[in-house]
Amino acid sequence: MKRRELIGGSLALATLLLTGQPAQAKDISLGKAADIKVGAARVFTIAGSRILVFRQSTSRYSGFIASCPHDATNLLASHVRSARVNCPKDKSVFNASTGRRISGPTAKSLQVVPLKVTSGFLIATLAPAATTAPTPTPSNSASGEEITKSARVPVGGGIKVNSKRGEIMVVQPTAGSFAAFSTYCNHGGCAVSRATASAIICTCHGSEFSTSNGSVIQGPATQGLMRYDIFERDGAIFLR
Ligand code: FES
Repeated sequence: MKRRELIGGSLALATLLLTGQPAQAKDISLGKAADIKVGAARVFTIAGSRILVFRQSTSRYSGFIASCPHDATNLLASHVRSARVNCPKDKSVFNASTGRRISGPTAKSLQVVPLKVTSGFLIATLAPAATTAPTPTPSNSASGEEITKSARVPVGGGIKVNSKRGEIMVVQPTAGSFAAFSTYCNHGGCAVSRATASAIICTCHGSEFSTSNGSVIQGPATQGLMRYDIFERDGAIFLR
């Protein structure tokens, strides 16, 4: 069986900051507020948490955890219509401005994520559990988790894929050399958006990270991307 070891061999370790102080809520930039049209919604994935943002008016935004409180169905931007959030599975309906339940089997409302606009950027205030960078959880399985077909990863670029450990950027700087990193940008918590042959780019504030090892090429980020251990087998990329 063909099994090719990929760039690097071990998981990069997330930085642990042991301050002895209680964990604090953290402000996370979601990018330019103007990028969301009035009456439209967008979902952001931040360190494994999904945040649904609805723009009520030129100056008012509302944010919620993008999960139906009844059955944890993932809520998408397309589920927001006429200022209402419609769960496609159980037909629960919520007010997209307040998150309050309007109808459906659940008695609960959407979980609110506080938002504000600062210098044109949309800022979400997340509870500590939602802002912690994903923790590597190596699998003992010899098979690993298949996260994408090799052919889907462009040479000289990368793609974002979903895995059991959250969203991952898989890159192929040169033909046959793959690497994978967390999409979590430690500068402000945005998800990196795209990759070239040499750099993974966070468009929130312009940070760039090496496609070879995830280290910072250009700030304002000061910490590199967390790297995942992957391997290729039978035309697919697996998370070890
Ligand atoms: S969040 Fe600021 S550069 Fe990524």
